[in-house]
Amino acid sequence: MDFSSIPHPAPVPGETRQQALADPGFGTLFSDHMVSIDWEEGKGWHNATVGPREPLSLDPATAVFHYAQEIFEGLKAYKQADGGIALFRPEENARRFNASADRLAMPNLPEELFLESIRQLVKADRDWFPSVDGGSLYLRPFMFASEAFLGVRPAKKYKFLVIASPAGNYFKSGAPAVSIWVSRNYTRAAPGGTGAAKCGGNYAASLVPQAEAIAKGHDQVVFLDAVEKKWIEELGGMNLFFVFDDGSVVTPPLTGTILPGITRDSLIQLLREEGLQVREEPYSIDQWRADATRGDLVETMACGTAAVVTPVGKVEGPDGAFTIGTGGPGQITSKLRERLVGIQRSEIADTHGWVMRI
Ligand code: PLP
Ligand code: COI
Repeated sequence: MDFSSIPHPAPVPGETRQQALADPGFGTLFSDHMVSIDWEEGKGWHNATVGPREPLSLDPATAVFHYAQEIFEGLKAYKQADGGIALFRPEENARRFNASADRLAMPNLPEELFLESIRQLVKADRDWFPSVDGGSLYLRPFMFASEAFLGVRPAKKYKFLVIASPAGNYFKSGAPAVSIWVSRNYTRAAPGGTGAAKCGGNYAASLVPQAEAIAKGHDQVVFLDAVEKKWIEELGGMNLFFVFDDGSVVTPPLTGTILPGITRDSLIQLLREEGLQVREEPYSIDQWRADATRGDLVETMACGTAAVVTPVGKVEGPDGAFTIGTGGPGQITSKLRERLVGIQRSEIADTHGWVMRI
């Protein structure tokens, strides 16, 4: 599909942009452009444009406002050591986007069109890479039901958009390790629900427990399973890994209630290549506490596109608080983060074919 290019009448002035790029934070700064593609029943995908990022005008009856038929992805473009730009496993985001679309009764977007949209936006906004160490251009592809209709059925019109946000550290505190609150009153997803889909509704439901975590002095909430309220699932926006003193690693299995993280999949492969045994098996909050207290569990890490690989230092659960290892970053977590980031920036050889140059 050809993209029509709409010139930007008033891009952000270079000096203002450079200032903002020195301290972008996460999720508050946006680039000049966006990609937009429409879908309509009988017509399919059409009207692909890359143009100025601007407000949308939507009818108040637009279906997404009422029944939350919306999905999204999150991936980053990285400046390479040689000055080029690359994406990390973007085909996996394209695939997961369609898996989410299937669950939310939305049309699939051809994977090549997903990838081309991202290439188009990154090229248009190539001047929007942060100047801070570890910075990247966070890309947010999303799709929503754009038909004005109040009946409860899949919409007949959708919009696919991609916006870009220069990103620094996800965690404001910049602390070496994050602190986690175990939600007792709320669960994130139940079997048969939408837990494995990246849909806005999952995040809306996580906001109250996440606010509870912040109010209790923690950085993130961890959810337990909805049936037994015992098995550790994931954080609001990250998967978890548990590292033991015998060199083995456990991560919760993909049973349909957690997001199949692309970072999770990458870390499983990297850990196995390092000779560590990785088991995808259920791990309970009681085991976590007991193993950490005994010292058998030496590290816990949270991972995701936004958070990269972040050590968990403290946990507050139903039976009080406990510390993981020294409470700071552990050896395996630090090494793994370095390895992942090294591959993403082409400082380490990409032996998996994970890096896609733009
Ligand atoms: N779990 C949730 C709920 C998420 O929102 C994310 C972030 O996308 C992840 C896990 C990690 O997924 P990925 O590594 O693909 O970014
Ligand atoms: C990501 O890591 O891309 C996420 O989507 C997590 C959060 C920002 C929603």
